[in-house]
Amino acid sequence: MALLCRSGGMVDAPDSKSGELWFVRVRVSPSAPLNDLAKLRVFMVQFDLERLLSIGSISPSSSFLAKEMIKYSKNLPANARILEIGAGRGPITKFLVKELKSSQKLDVVELMPEFCQSLQKYFSNKPLVTIYCCDILEFDIHKKYDLVICSLPFNSMDPEITKRVMALLPSMLNKSGIFSFFEYSFTQKIFYYLLRGKNLERYKKARSLVKNFVKQYEFEHTNIYANIPPAVVRFLRFN
Ligand SMILES: C[S@@+](CC[C@H](N)C(=O)[O-])C[C@H]1O[C@@H](n2cnc3c(N)ncnc32)[C@H](O)[C@@H]1O
Repeated sequence: MALLCRSGGMVDAPDSKSGELWFVRVRVSPSAPLNDLAKLRVFMVQFDLERLLSIGSISPSSSFLAKEMIKYSKNLPANARILEIGAGRGPITKFLVKELKSSQKLDVVELMPEFCQSLQKYFSNKPLVTIYCCDILEFDIHKKYDLVICSLPFNSMDPEITKRVMALLPSMLNKSGIFSFFEYSFTQKIFYYLLRGKNLERYKKARSLVKNFVKQYEFEHTNIYANIPPAVVRFLRFN
């Protein structure tokens, strides 16, 4: 199914550059004698770490995480415009939709065609919601948003893409607009231990971009333990 991408054109979403992991592949390792730590490492590596890194998640966000991510949607003006980036199959979208008032608009951008189809299925009967199946870097913005809710896995994406998205975000929001995103907690040490070579360099670069971004713009954050893995939801303003 072709879904709207750039305004004025019907475009198929590109092949997945990054996506979402809803299952974990574990391969059986050769039964060489290993100490416990080494066993753990082999097990973790066999979670197909490279794929986890490029994809960024092992399960959909919990309702606790979703509700925190959207909490600022409750106080928005009657005609507010909201953007959700990286909706997956919509675990956050469904809470956002419940909060929408009749003159508010929600635009949802998702890269993976298969997730776009689910979104289309669940939300096509909601006139206030428009699904755009495309890369956020290709998305045309007509009018700035009051709230941007983002689930992109900044820490595990290609740092060049993370950098480009971060550079774009301030131009998407109104002066008083709020940006929310989440990062997984407690995963950094694991990644530093498990990653090697190019992957480690890539991860370090992405981490440093995220840290600077947060340091510059964050005004609030909340830890959410009821999520797999636990996460921290961050709220930023760019003015
Ligand atoms: C970590 S998942 C989050 C999914 C869902 N919002 C949740 O909270 O469970 C990230 C989502 O971002 C999408 N994504 C990744 N890169 C993207 C991009 N450049 N533009 C739009 N969506 C993207 C992926 O396809 C995936 O569905």
